[in-house]
Amino acid sequence: MIPIANPIIEDEEINEVIKVLKSGFIAQGPKVAEFEEKFAEFVKTKYAIATSSGTTALHVALLSAGIGPGDEVITTPFTFAATANSVLYTGASPVFVDIDPETYNIDPEQIEEAVTDNTKAIMPVHLYGHPAEMGSVSKIAKDHDLIVIEDAAQAHGAMYKGKMVGSLGDMACFSFYPTKNMTTSEGGMITTQNKKSCEDSRSLRAHGESSRYEHVTLGYNFRMTDISAAIGIIQLKKLNEFNNRRISNAKYLTENINQMQLIKPPLVRKDVKHVFHQYTIRVDKSKRDKLIKFLNDNGIGTGIHYPKPIYQQELYQKLGYYYSCPEAEKAADEVISIPVHPGLNLNDLEIIVKTLDRASKTIL
Ligand SMILES: Cc1ncc(COP(=O)(O)O)c(C=O)c1O
Repeated sequence: MIPIANPIIEDEEINEVIKVLKSGFIAQGPKVAEFEEKFAEFVKTKYAIATSSGTTALHVALLSAGIGPGDEVITTPFTFAATANSVLYTGASPVFVDIDPETYNIDPEQIEEAVTDNTKAIMPVHLYGHPAEMGSVSKIAKDHDLIVIEDAAQAHGAMYKGKMVGSLGDMACFSFYPTKNMTTSEGGMITTQNKKSCEDSRSLRAHGESSRYEHVTLGYNFRMTDISAAIGIIQLKKLNEFNNRRISNAKYLTENINQMQLIKPPLVRKDVKHVFHQYTIRVDKSKRDKLIKFLNDNGIGTGIHYPKPIYQQELYQKLGYYYSCPEAEKAADEVISIPVHPGLNLNDLEIIVKTLDRASKTIL
C-alpha cells in the first residue's frame, strides 16, 4: 500500500528525543525556546509561540486578539473542523464564506458582503499548502479594521508574492500533526510581529500567568514539551527538502494527469509557492467513490479533504448554522487526495500515474 501520508522520522530526531529524556527537562524548557526562535527566523516574524497543537494555537491566537462572545470571525467552510471549532471555543461565531473552486481557498470576492458590525477577524486557511489570496484579504481587513489570523496549519514554507506564509496577517497558526509538512508528533505554533500578541499568547498557553503563580487571565495548559520541540528543531532543518520533494512529486503527477480525461489536477496560482500538503484531484461526483475504490484496491491510499462543509456537520446544524456555499458543497462531493508526501519514490509515482490512467480509460 502507498499510504496517503507517512511522517519521516530518522535517527537524528530519535537521538535528540533521547537526549531530552536524559536531560531531565521533559516539559516546556530550553528546547521549546530554541524551536520558537528558529521557527520565527524561518517564517521571518519577530515572535513564535509554541503550543500543544494547531488547534490550541488557533484558540490562543483568537483569545489574544480579544475575540469572544458576540464577535464574528469570517472563515471558509471547506477546512478541517479545528478552524471553526477554535472560534466557537472563544464564544464567538464563525461566519462561512464560499470558496474559489480553483484553489479551494476562501473567495475574497465574497468576503466583503459577509462583514457586519460584529465582525472582528478574518481567518483564511491556506488549504492543502496553497496560499490564500492574501492581498485581497488584507485590503478588506484594512478597510474594515479587522484582524487577520492565518490558519497556516497545512502550509509550512509556502509563500505568497515572495513572502512567507505565517508573516502575512496579524497572527498565524501552524500545526505539527504527523501528516503535516513537518511534525513534532502533536504540536502547534503561533507566529506574529506584535509584541503584545506574543506576550498575551505566552500567558494564555500557561494558565494566564504574568509570572510564576500570578494568574491575570483565565488561561490554559496548552504548552509544548521539549520532547516535541526536539523533534521539531530537526524537522525544521529538513522542511525545505521535504517541501521540494512534495513540489516535484506534484509536478510529476500533474504533467501526467493533464493527459488524462475526466480527472482535474490541482492548479498553482502565479505568484505563490504551493507546498502541497495535499495533492487533491477532482472527478465528477458520480465517479468519485468508484475511483477511490479502484485506487485503494490497487494499493494507493486516498483521503477526502473534506467530505462536507463545516456547517453541514451535525454539531453546526445543531447550533443553527444554516448556510449555502455551492462551491464548497460541490468540492466536498468531488475531491480526492492522493499521495504526494516526500516518502514517495519514482516507482510509487509511476504506479499512481499508471493506476489513474487505467481508471480514466476503464471506470470513469
Ligand atoms: C486547516 C487546519 N486547521 C487546524 C488544524 C488543527 O491542527 P492540530 O491537528 O495540530 O490541532 C489542522 C490540522 O489538523 C488543519 O488542517
